[in-house]
Amino acid sequence: SNDGGGETGGDHQLRVSKIRSGTVIDHVRGGQALNVLAILGIDGSEGEELSIGMNVPSDRLARKDIVKVEGRELSQDEVDVLSLIAPESTINIVRDYDVIEKHRVDRPELVEGVLSCPNSECITTGDEPVTSTFDVLEDGVRCAYCETIVRTGIASLIDT
Ligand code: CTP
Ligand code: ZN
Repeated sequence: SNDGGGETGGDHQLRVSKIRSGTVIDHVRGGQALNVLAILGIDGSEGEELSIGMNVPSDRLARKDIVKVEGRELSQDEVDVLSLIAPESTINIVRDYDVIEKHRVDRPELVEGVLSCPNSECITTGDEPVTSTFDVLEDGVRCAYCETIVRTGIASLIDT
């Protein structure tokens, strides 16, 4: 296990403490941790206990981010949206300090309510509340209303 504690470097301390129960989102592409939280709609304002490590050393990736959410088991549907910004991430469900489930994120067919359309003429960006819906393509996302396609910089569409 390398939690970015520098185990490869001979430093055996964990940089981010273990959690008791909750979800560990591991192997997040370096620099994406804050986008991971944003796309999940988690911002700590409800008192959620969060730990974030950014650009920590990793065996598998040169540098990784890690996000730990104490007291909350994220569902597969909730984490699948992460495939848009952190497709290589691993989701670990922790109970009583043990990892009881480990899974990868799957690409969903569509994502609702988490991205905002960059087209200012789009019905989803107007005053009337219309929930944004994007179809997930091989290489990007497409607004289901105005068909605008975004292939790069999807993180900048995250509705915060
Ligand atoms: N973890 C945690 N709190 C726990 C148990 C695990 O924060 N109570 C973290 C570990 O530090 C690690 C991740 O959850 O970052 C996955 O744990 P584990 O499966 O034990 O580690 P690895 O075997 O290294 O996982 P992988 O093979 O996915 O790299
Ligand atoms: Zn649109």
